[in-house]
Amino acid sequence: MAKIAIFASGNGSNFEVLANEFVNDDKNSVEILICNIKDAYVLKRAQKFNIPYEIAGYIKNERMRAEKNILKILKEKDIDVIFLAGFMKILTGEFIKECGIPIINIHPAILPKYKGTHSIERAFSSDDKEIGITIHYVIEEVDSGDIIIQKSIPLNRELGLDGVENEVHKLEHKWYPIAAKQICEGINKSKV
Ligand code: GRF
Repeated sequence: MAKIAIFASGNGSNFEVLANEFVNDDKNSVEILICNIKDAYVLKRAQKFNIPYEIAGYIKNERMRAEKNILKILKEKDIDVIFLAGFMKILTGEFIKECGIPIINIHPAILPKYKGTHSIERAFSSDDKEIGITIHYVIEEVDSGDIIIQKSIPLNRELGLDGVENEVHKLEHKWYPIAAKQICEGINKSKV
């Protein structure tokens, strides 16, 4: 059984497609949502799936304390893998090392292009012909770990920024569950 934690801060559409992927899965289960915003919409989605959540209190300059609390929860729940889905806090190198399990992120750009925020807007304003997504391992340097999957589509500016954003999110929603499932299958194999 691969035990999953998802970290998300906002809308949670990627959280939802992951939750949906594992809802009737007897080999893998989403054990917890970690969120740092107490009224984020993703919490409503977690309630819908009966997935427990914890609000990580990132109070000013208290990142280490917040991370210690998260680590405690991960250890208590025996979590095997973390999927970041729009988690707007940067995890420290200490946290990544200490938790000792794979951490995976989804980024709405063809990395190494457009690391950081507003990636879709920056791609839209460029002269790029393609836009896409990257699913990658998390290391201390933001949006820089080994790539698991990259997918791209033609960048059709006639759709407008909103339309293009929509297309990118569709790609995310298709590929994040597929990649997550494969990763969990690998974890289950390694446990046998
Ligand atoms: C997604 O675009 C994801 O790639 C990025 O944050 C966004 C989260 O969207 N890391 P949502 O909250 O899953 O709808």
